[in-house]
Amino acid sequence: MPEHADVLTAVPQVAGGSGLRNQYAYENDRIGCLTAWSKRYGDVFGYGPATVVVNHPDLIHQVLARTNREFSATVPMVEHQQTAAENLDAWMRGRRQGGRGIHPDLIAQCDDRLDRALATAVTALPARGMDLAAACERICGRAIIDVCLGGEAPAFYERTARASDDILAVSRTLDTPPWGAKRRYRRAVAAERDLTARLGGVLERLRARPGDPPRTSLVDALLAHPDRLPDQVITAVLRVTLIGGHGTPGTALAWCVREMSQRPELLARLSDEARAAPAPAAAADLPYTTAFVKEMLRFYPPTWLLARDVAEPVALCGRRLEPGQRVLFSPYLLHHDERWWDTPAEIRPERWLGEEKPFAPHAYFPFGAGPRVCVGSLLGLTVLVRAVALLAKGFELDVDGPADAAPRPDILLAPPRSRVRYVALTSRNAGRE
Ligand code: HEM
Repeated sequence: MPEHADVLTAVPQVAGGSGLRNQYAYENDRIGCLTAWSKRYGDVFGYGPATVVVNHPDLIHQVLARTNREFSATVPMVEHQQTAAENLDAWMRGRRQGGRGIHPDLIAQCDDRLDRALATAVTALPARGMDLAAACERICGRAIIDVCLGGEAPAFYERTARASDDILAVSRTLDTPPWGAKRRYRRAVAAERDLTARLGGVLERLRARPGDPPRTSLVDALLAHPDRLPDQVITAVLRVTLIGGHGTPGTALAWCVREMSQRPELLARLSDEARAAPAPAAAADLPYTTAFVKEMLRFYPPTWLLARDVAEPVALCGRRLEPGQRVLFSPYLLHHDERWWDTPAEIRPERWLGEEKPFAPHAYFPFGAGPRVCVGSLLGLTVLVRAVALLAKGFELDVDGPADAAPRPDILLAPPRSRVRYVALTSRNAGRE
């Protein structure tokens, strides 16, 4: 790690800053540009005056750990809050209780429900096949909505998928031109309002239930919590959780499916493990599947680029950062860096099977870190492991599309466009089990 300097210095700048030429180069090859700039200018460099890119695990860890103080992350809107500070406070209280709601105990109780939701979602896909990423979003999204909303879930499947598309469309990373931004922004706000109003209706219905509510979903856990949160905080937690649980795990599953469809020996090993596991399987019954999912989150982290805004003048590794600047850092870059990993260019699930962590400290963060770390990391991992096991043991996967195409790093790190068709092995190959 670079030494702390006594005197704060300015950040070295990419030649040409955020001018048109660099913008063009970046839009054509985002990961390639960030990698090349980082090699040339070091682990902290500027892209124009407003953007600082950081590419060292310890420095990124500092930024993440100091979030909500010197650095800020976008805060989901909680209705009826007067100031930004009150909004942050309400969101943090909500996510603390929400996090407890998606507690390991609740997730463990949901194993069976998750398996049924995943199987129903896969068999409901059109027989002629569909876009791989959209199919995987549907599969993960439905299972996660079930855990969050219990019996109220079905009314939210399609609506959440649409809202998630609209809301993701206005997320930004490096500064991009605002073409069409206003219309997209209005759609996102309308989608958020609609989801919030409908979730408010769910709270009213559930509160009107007679007797002691069962605690088998996130919404039940939030309603039954002794420190009762105001409804607008509960609806914000549910809304953001539904959206957060949609595209990201779906993208991760799409990468898993693509890899499984291209490597028969890997698919056979996953399938053997899933067939040997009891039903419903616990995570401990699926060690290789879990290692495979962790490796895919390393190689293709869906949230490949994260951002924090500088909230007050701050020093980072001897560099001076000022309010108005945005700090960017990429799990993808760190996860592929030979300084922190052995053979990072190889997809090797076995690296996760040893006793030791296979990476340098803070060099693996597919779920972010610090006070704003992903609230659904355990649920996301659980859903992915169960979905991979289900697909490996029960379905034949047919993925059309380019074998070697590069990932498409947009808001999420999307796989190359391809179509997928699943055939249930139980109906085609009865007797093979
Ligand atoms: C493979 C699955 C997933 C991945 C890779 C992932 C990744 C991430 C990342 C990188 C962040 C930003 C963290 C930061 O800025 O430090 C995040 C935030 C978040 N995630 Fe996830 N996530 C996944 C699944 C889920 C699921 C299943 C849920 C909900 C059930 C969820 C809910 C959220 C929420 C609510 C936030 C915002 C937290 C905040 O702003 O305070 N995520 N996720």
